[in-house]
Amino acid sequence: MAGGKLGVGVFGAHTWAEKAHLPGYAADPRVDLVAICDVVPERAQAMARKFGARRVYTDPKALLADGEIRMVDVCTPTDTHLDLALAAIAAGKHVLCEKPIARDARDAFRMARAAEAAKLRTKVGFTFRYSPALRRIRAWIEDGTIGDVFHVHGLEQNSQFLDPMFPLRQVPAGVDFKAKHPIPQSIVGYGSHLVDLMRWMGGEFAAVAATMRNYVPERVVRGYPGMQRINVDDGTVALVEFASGAQGMLQTSIVAVGNYPGIEIRVYGSKAAAVGRLVTERGIAETLHFARADAVEFEPVALPDSDFPPGTSLRTEWRELYYRNLIRLWVSELLDDRPPEGDFRDGARSQEIVDACVLAHVERRWVDFPLYRDV
Ligand SMILES: NC(=O)c1ccc[n+]([C@@H]2O[C@H](COP(=O)([O-])OP(=O)(O)OC[C@H]3O[C@@H](n4cnc5c(N)ncnc54)[C@H](O)[C@@H]3O)[C@@H](O)[C@H]2O)c1
Repeated sequence: MAGGKLGVGVFGAHTWAEKAHLPGYAADPRVDLVAICDVVPERAQAMARKFGARRVYTDPKALLADGEIRMVDVCTPTDTHLDLALAAIAAGKHVLCEKPIARDARDAFRMARAAEAAKLRTKVGFTFRYSPALRRIRAWIEDGTIGDVFHVHGLEQNSQFLDPMFPLRQVPAGVDFKAKHPIPQSIVGYGSHLVDLMRWMGGEFAAVAATMRNYVPERVVRGYPGMQRINVDDGTVALVEFASGAQGMLQTSIVAVGNYPGIEIRVYGSKAAAVGRLVTERGIAETLHFARADAVEFEPVALPDSDFPPGTSLRTEWRELYYRNLIRLWVSELLDDRPPEGDFRDGARSQEIVDACVLAHVERRWVDFPLYRDV
């Protein structure tokens, strides 16, 4: 796919598309935003005007039949990801899909296999992999600066759903609100990002133990009337044994006071340690600190402009900063044949880890990987 612009078609023209995906395409001169498709026509039309898409569709099949589109972006509600992404693969398109890519990890592995068999590229909307601070930590692990990794600590905590009147979203259709065990929410929402980051830093998981808890028993749920009694995991804590022998601790919470996105990753190795904190405070999106075995006081690290998408800085709103970076690197993967990262197989592994955390909580035991065989 060398040379020429990348023809892009986007499914979904609402909240996250407007805040993150579409600004990323509009900012990348290598992208030709061919079409936007939404089942609500006014939304597709408004986003096409705002971000300069050439065509508007309301029928997904019409977008998939558009010969100018080489990459399809699935930014629709979670329950629609599986069918839309598989249809895009069947139509021979590369696919970026929002997380979680499917409700069931086994379906996610099926999606990965379908793309691999068709020799198509995939990408999951793992927003925080594209944080300049976290990419730098990952580079320090790869080039040996950190040394052998001993500990990976991951936090994802913000107060997104502390207020019971703020509507909960992306609850799976048909789920039993009064289920005895918590319906996965914080561990799936931002949590699926966090477990992906932990695995990106520490390698494959060997085993997890986890505990989940509901703190806000009644709340507004989008699409349902009045207050709903719904048992979701407002907070999850897990211990991790990595295959490498490293140890991990993680926490996800949607009721922990603090600003978005609320991600913190700490990596401690035999030679050095690094802490990346992605919490918008006083207009700054993230901070990075580094310490060495022979100079143990953590010092702030300033990253070069080349670590940021052109025209962005630490003062760029985090959603736009990370998504512009995701899209510029994804377009480079496709146009310049760079190695894949954060693809559907990574998305499936993240869901497998989420499922293992739920199982560990429900059965009050350690759960070993792989959880699913023959996937
Ligand atoms: N990566 C992240 O950090 C992050 C952050 C927020 C949301 N998300 C994910 O992004 C996805 C979209 O979230 P959102 O908040 O924008 O949802 P939303 O409900 O606000 O918007 C989804 C849009 O998709 C349209 N749609 C539904 N079915 C469709 C179909 N079959 N074809 C075309 N359009 C269709 C809807 O009409 C709506 O306009 C979700 O899966 C969510 O989990 C990811």
